Amino acid sequence: MKQIPGGVFSTYINSELKRGDDIEIMEPSGNFYVDVNAATPKNYIAFVAGSGITPVLSIIKTHLELEPQSTFKLFYLNRTVKSIIFKEEIEQLKNKFFQRFHVFYFLTKEQRDIEFLNGRFTPEKIKLLTDTFIDIDDTAHCFICGPQDMIFMIKEELEAVGLNKDKIHYELFFSGKSDVEDNHIAEVLEQKTEGTKVTIIDGGKEFHFIMDDDLDTILDGALAAGADLPFACKGGVCSTCKCKVVEGSVKMKVNYALEEDEVAKNLVLSCQAVPTSKKVTVDFDV
Ligand code: FES
Repeated sequence: MKQIPGGVFSTYINSELKRGDDIEIMEPSGNFYVDVNAATPKNYIAFVAGSGITPVLSIIKTHLELEPQSTFKLFYLNRTVKSIIFKEEIEQLKNKFFQRFHVFYFLTKEQRDIEFLNGRFTPEKIKLLTDTFIDIDDTAHCFICGPQDMIFMIKEELEAVGLNKDKIHYELFFSGKSDVEDNHIAEVLEQKTEGTKVTIIDGGKEFHFIMDDDLDTILDGALAAGADLPFACKGGVCSTCKCKVVEGSVKMKVNYALEEDEVAKNLVLSCQAVPTSKKVTVDFDV
């Protein structure tokens, strides 16, 4: 496995995990999917960069296999042809579903004859695609997976030409924080209440602790106090740490995972939730 400098999991896998070891895994979670409905044909599109293909390929296969009349267009950005992840599998899918699955490879480090396919996705390219090749009115859902800047640029362009934001689903695999986000985080931390009494409800049981002044988020506070709670990215991206605030108040530093309607129901990402009241109770059994 690729070693990411300072990466907790890749370091563990490369230096400690041995052949024959058992790994306990969590069930899949998150919102990066839409329900399968074989009765209604749909047209899907996807914009993906590099390893962002991993979740999207499963989504493509699922909908093509289980919805016999649905179509998928994949716009897939890589550096070179050689670096295209799952190329063989994608080509096999293309052969199997040649009338319903179309893929367009964009490359940043190799020049090809069609200029349009050279280089990153840009607002101009997205505009050209939606003017000519993507029928926005007929697009049921769009999936985007890649770096933050790419995701938000494409999302903005698609919304500008009329694709409803409920139809745009994205998963970040890298989040470089912008100045606006840095300012928001600083504001949230200013509102942090010191010494909050926190109650965690998990598996029907309660766990109580007092927030350590040196820690910011409910998840970090709970883990430091010995709780065993679900989490993965700790970056506000995956929603594994989702819980519901049932008493008191918190503010999230960032949120790339929860939809507006979930936030309206008091759901929060515990890895981002900074307590802003003297008492906070959160429920993980949601
Ligand atoms: S652990 Fe991924 S969003 Fe909190």
